Amino acid sequence: MLDQRPPEAAPGVRAVAERLPLRDDAVDAVMAVLTVHHGSDPAAGIREPRRVARRRVVVLTWDQDVFRERFWLVREYLPEAAAFDDSRALPVGRPPCSAEHGRRRSPLPDDCTDGFAAAYWRRPHAYLDPRVRAGISLLAQTGEDVIAPGLARLADDLASGRRHTRHAGLLALDTVDVGYRLLVADR
Ligand SMILES: C[S@@+](CC[C@H](N)C(=O)[O-])C[C@H]1O[C@@H](n2cnc3c(N)ncnc32)[C@H](O)[C@@H]1O
Repeated sequence: MLDQRPPEAAPGVRAVAERLPLRDDAVDAVMAVLTVHHGSDPAAGIREPRRVARRRVVVLTWDQDVFRERFWLVREYLPEAAAFDDSRALPVGRPPCSAEHGRRRSPLPDDCTDGFAAAYWRRPHAYLDPRVRAGISLLAQTGEDVIAPGLARLADDLASGRRHTRHAGLLALDTVDVGYRLLVADR
């Protein structure tokens, strides 16, 4: 990803969210997009941006309770993947993600071009493509062996039309809220 940055972009520094190599109040703002949950200590990954930002911290993450309940893929086909996310999802609405964080819903468009977990909510065939799954840590890290039975059921339901019948209502929607949340903290 560093290699993809345009030459005129600000300098990149290799580090982890839970230990930023910056002094207190070093930068105006910090933005973390679907990244803090990858760290060894997500609580530190939330604290560190607040330490180094003078004005604003914005973290895009998801509310696991909402995600589990509303995203058809994990609810109906891949509960094992949801269980994997239980162990790493940030506790949205509870410490350390509470008090000073405003929470904003982030509805997903039906043509989302970033291929993260629920991006293909209205394009179910995409989840049968290994290249798509390789770019979704929820699926890649849960493991192909574990998710294979659920994917086989999805393939069957797509072929028979069962999945379409159950979720025909989704076709009328341009966006859905399946739990993605922007946590915004102003200092
Ligand atoms: C889903 S990608 C998001 C990348 C980028 N923020 C974006 O929106 O395109 C997750 C990123 O988290 C990074 N990552 C892994 N461990 C991390 C950590 N401890 N602290 C910060 N980022 C980490 C990975 O290298 C990967 O680039």
